[in-house]
Amino acid sequence: MTTPTRVRRAVERMHAYHPPLEGRTDKLRLDFNENPIGCSPAVRRALAKLGAASISAYPEQEAVCRKAAKFFGVEPAELLLTNGTDEGLSLVVNAFVEPRDKLLVVEPTFAMYRFYSELAGARIVAPRYDAAMCFPWNNVLAALRAGPRVFFLPNPNSPTGNLLSTRELQRILKAAPRTMVVIDEAYFEFSGVTVIPWIRRHKNLIVTRTFSKAAGLAGLRIGCIFVHREMAATMRKAQSPYPVNAAALVAAEAAMRDRAFIARTVREVRRSRVELARGMKRFGVQFFPSAGNFVLVHFGERTKRIVAALARKGILVRDRSSDFGGEGYVRITLGTLAQTRRLLRELKEIL
Ligand SMILES: Cc1ncc(COP(=O)(O)O)c(C=O)c1O
Repeated sequence: MTTPTRVRRAVERMHAYHPPLEGRTDKLRLDFNENPIGCSPAVRRALAKLGAASISAYPEQEAVCRKAAKFFGVEPAELLLTNGTDEGLSLVVNAFVEPRDKLLVVEPTFAMYRFYSELAGARIVAPRYDAAMCFPWNNVLAALRAGPRVFFLPNPNSPTGNLLSTRELQRILKAAPRTMVVIDEAYFEFSGVTVIPWIRRHKNLIVTRTFSKAAGLAGLRIGCIFVHREMAATMRKAQSPYPVNAAALVAAEAAMRDRAFIARTVREVRRSRVELARGMKRFGVQFFPSAGNFVLVHFGERTKRIVAALARKGILVRDRSSDFGGEGYVRITLGTLAQTRRLLRELKEIL
């Protein structure tokens, strides 16, 4: 007999996920790939105008959905607004994955793919990047031949930062006729590579985007799914009725109007990327080229000491060593050139 308090086996088997630490707001946060510059002033003005009528009513999202469709160059029927990419990923799993289905990810990667897959009781196939952070083509193509239910592929990937070209993504789609391929474009603004237009010819393609990174709305939780209109209609059936709250809707609308803020962020991040690379070369620290707003660096055995020393100076970076099964890897988010220079100054002293 099962007791009423017994949770599902898949939940029992899961390790608890430890979300971002508390107490980060007054620090230089280079640890979670948010936008360290902040968000557009237009977003703050729009939020300040949010009235009691909007706050006290269930959110209406159709108008924002239409604007987002225009902004991203699709039809409203090809887009779903989600509570951040996280909810989008959860929705994909809820809509397509049965317990014991196989899901493919290439690790190390964004932890939430594994999280939602494990929660659903799916089996995870996870080829790995090699020490040079090269994409494991042979293993991925072999895994795709077995027809996993879903392939989660962020482009660029986090924490490695590497980017697949559209030609390489075409190769993946060609090899995956029996798989839902989810291309997570969370860092699109920094990479410039997108496959959103392909949703019309590939019913098994899902593209996700977020307002958490370049637009700086991580605290409000809003993102989008782009998918063939027939699939969008089916997926809507599996989504909660009010996934995105009224504040996030208003903020996203304002963020889309202020393209200049996003362009400025991208410019600053690109400058910071060059500056950080220059600094790491000077320090003799290995780093991996990145197409995102972050860079993975290898501090080796000094990692814990460096991360702790930076934290004492009010700078947070993310120790990703556990992803690599040994000490040494740190992911650093890129903000303004001034923020990156501050980090490099402090690092110089510590090293
Ligand atoms: C690849 C990738 N996708 C998605 C997300 C999270 O997006 P959101 O804040 O929209 O849930 C992250 C955040 O770090 C990420 O690295």
